[in-house]
Amino acid sequence: MPRCSMGLFSDICSCLRRRLSATTSDGSAADDAEEDSSSLFYKLETLQIATNFFSELNQLGHGGFGPVYKGLMSNGQEVAVKKLSLTSRQGLKEFTNEVKLLLRVQHKNLVMLLGCCVEGPEKMLVYEYLPNRSLDYFLFDKKQSPLLDWRRRFYIVKGIARGLLYLHEEAPERIIHRDIKCSNILLDDQLNPKISDFGLARLFPGEETHLNTFRISGTHGYMAPEYAIHGYLSVKTDVFSFGILVLEIVSGRKNHDKLLGADKADLLNYAWRSFQAEKSLELVDASLDKYSPEEAAICIRLGLLCCQASVVERPDMNSVHLMLSSDSFSLPVPGKPGVHGRVGHWTTTTSTAFTNNTNGTSTQTGGTTKASTSSIFMEEYSRNSMSYSSIDEGR
Ligand SMILES: Nc1ncnc2c1ncn2[C@@H]1O[C@H](COP(=O)(O)OP(=O)(O)O)[C@@H](O)[C@H]1O
Ligand SMILES: [Mg+2]
Repeated sequence: MPRCSMGLFSDICSCLRRRLSATTSDGSAADDAEEDSSSLFYKLETLQIATNFFSELNQLGHGGFGPVYKGLMSNGQEVAVKKLSLTSRQGLKEFTNEVKLLLRVQHKNLVMLLGCCVEGPEKMLVYEYLPNRSLDYFLFDKKQSPLLDWRRRFYIVKGIARGLLYLHEEAPERIIHRDIKCSNILLDDQLNPKISDFGLARLFPGEETHLNTFRISGTHGYMAPEYAIHGYLSVKTDVFSFGILVLEIVSGRKNHDKLLGADKADLLNYAWRSFQAEKSLELVDASLDKYSPEEAAICIRLGLLCCQASVVERPDMNSVHLMLSSDSFSLPVPGKPGVHGRVGHWTTTTSTAFTNNTNGTSTQTGGTTKASTSSIFMEEYSRNSMSYSSIDEGR
């Protein structure tokens, strides 16, 4: 451990110690986290052994931030080890600062971060392992999807909403996830949803790397238009992605599926047209034996509201949570949704001043972050002020 990072080192150790003592009833995880009682970083050697030297057989997946491996600790504890492909710009100090914050972020609908490893050139995050992996394995596999009955799906939607509400409003610092999608919703042994990869964007100093993430992991179908095109980031960016996710959960299909034909290929567009024709429920997954039409209608309407083109017309997660949990809350009627994707021909007519930092990193003010350094204006999109040339663009 370099001498300069000793202060941070002891800070992070106390966070880790608290986290581990809170999560392991028998305290056995401490053995694997570090033999030395003054440190709870995971040793590289320990993780190498746990993952069979990062064997391909142990690989659970590969996202834009690097591969994820399943690991088995000597005490029998299963973990997921995420190797981060951090750029050289990323210093140990920034990394440990961010991990320190993420270790304080705890909620039953978030995957638990257990610790990290910063030995050698590698930086890794160690998470609790969730045996049912991610929502996409269930939702988009016709053999598995019946396991997610309506009651479970509605419960999952509510759980994700609660997790996002926590990140946006209740966590020690506001966290915009930026990559809400099916493969980032993990399921525990009871199929309870847990958001993963929260705060990962914080570990990266620049925006470029993160945009790269979307290219690599192909998740631009979830991106809000103002973020995809102008890098304008706010909590409402997550709300948009959440809206797409809700529509996927109700319909049991991906947000874009060419095999379904031009009419239905784009889920958001299809949902909007069905809603206008008062045939929303056509969207509901045909593999569901039974479902609650009232709840399904709420979810579809909510999905559309979250995907409004105008940032201000999208509800925040507080309102989303209310809409999902209160019978008396009447949902507003959604207007035409925005177009997700990275590329598109947008025409905007209104703009409002927006201040921006110039040091190349994101700043956060009242929940709003402008990631790009190239513009000091942010355009406020309104439903009536935009047009697009093709709904298929940007994928
Ligand atoms: N803690 C975990 N427990 C079990 N499976 C996980 C865990 N974290 C990630 N995975 C699996 O590994 C896959 C790859 O993860 P990730 O690198 O985050 O990429 P992405 O989210 O883009 O798919 C995920 O889709 C998920 O199925
Ligand atoms: Mg992920």
